[in-house]
Amino acid sequence: MTLRHFLSTQDWSRADLDALLDQAAAFKRSKAGRQLEGKSIALLFFNPSMRTRTSFELGAFQLGGHAVVLAPGKDAWPIEFDVGSVMDGETEEHVAEVARVLSRYVDLIAVRAFPKFQDWSIDRQDRVIHAFAKYATVPVINMETITHPCQELAHIQALQERFGRDLHGKKYVLTWTYHPRPLNTAVANSALQIATRYGMDVTLLCPTPEYVLDSRYMDFARANVAENGGSLTISHDPQSAYRGAHVVYAKSWGALPYFGRWADEKPIRDAHKHFIVDEAKMALTDHGVFSHCLPLRRNVKATDAVMDSPACIAIDEAENRLHVQKAVMAALVS
Ligand code: CP
Repeated sequence: MTLRHFLSTQDWSRADLDALLDQAAAFKRSKAGRQLEGKSIALLFFNPSMRTRTSFELGAFQLGGHAVVLAPGKDAWPIEFDVGSVMDGETEEHVAEVARVLSRYVDLIAVRAFPKFQDWSIDRQDRVIHAFAKYATVPVINMETITHPCQELAHIQALQERFGRDLHGKKYVLTWTYHPRPLNTAVANSALQIATRYGMDVTLLCPTPEYVLDSRYMDFARANVAENGGSLTISHDPQSAYRGAHVVYAKSWGALPYFGRWADEKPIRDAHKHFIVDEAKMALTDHGVFSHCLPLRRNVKATDAVMDSPACIAIDEAENRLHVQKAVMAALVS
């Protein structure tokens, strides 16, 4: 039998995603559930986290299971991912052993591994999570690599709570926002995927064509539009993009052509601080909601007024991480 992983929502059918969302809604209504009784999950963090770590640990506990948290290179041995490498450098063991040994101990393995931000042609291969999926004999869950599928589900759950189950006809703006450093494109890739998957009219708003996302995710989005309806538009004009929007989802990310030479990207980024989500832009929307995956730098990415307004559903979305991840874990061990 083929092992089922949760690496990308694109690998799961709409019916399966809807079932996860139904289960997440049930978990939100009631904490009851012992689907992980006697089972365990290893959470491997190659990068920091607040929400993901807390919600996975608590989710496993609430389902009767146990979570083991590891930070390779910090509290666990540094791991080698290259095949055939002579390991005479910093790494102490190979993912081939790590994934197989953990599979003897636990029932699920979850991995957070951000890009290195030096060479997008390498980062886009998403080697770390695919190596775990290759060698593990238990299901592997993506806790954010170059996409963030758990965030996608939490986001859709929050939107369905506000607008109802059918999101067709909603104008969805995925807006780039300023951040002093170039950030991962994962949440932006994910937002594009899931918003088009649920048939919304999606506008990707970014400073210049260089900030358009990787062709893989643009192609997924176009294929999703063809299959599910809705639309996909690219805009560099905040005024027209925000006008009539029902959803504004903000994220900052580094422009792909500048990977490894970020000093050249910085002047472009710095010239677009006005992409901040503020009350004036939100006033152009059709009573739109605002969200962000968090963490968020206030008054850099979005103003205090936006974050503290009733239109902000970022806290609901963060809460939903717990519910959707419980649904994912329960589905993968069933
Ligand atoms: N949104 C999210 O994944 O938050 P953390 O980075 O805190 O886990």
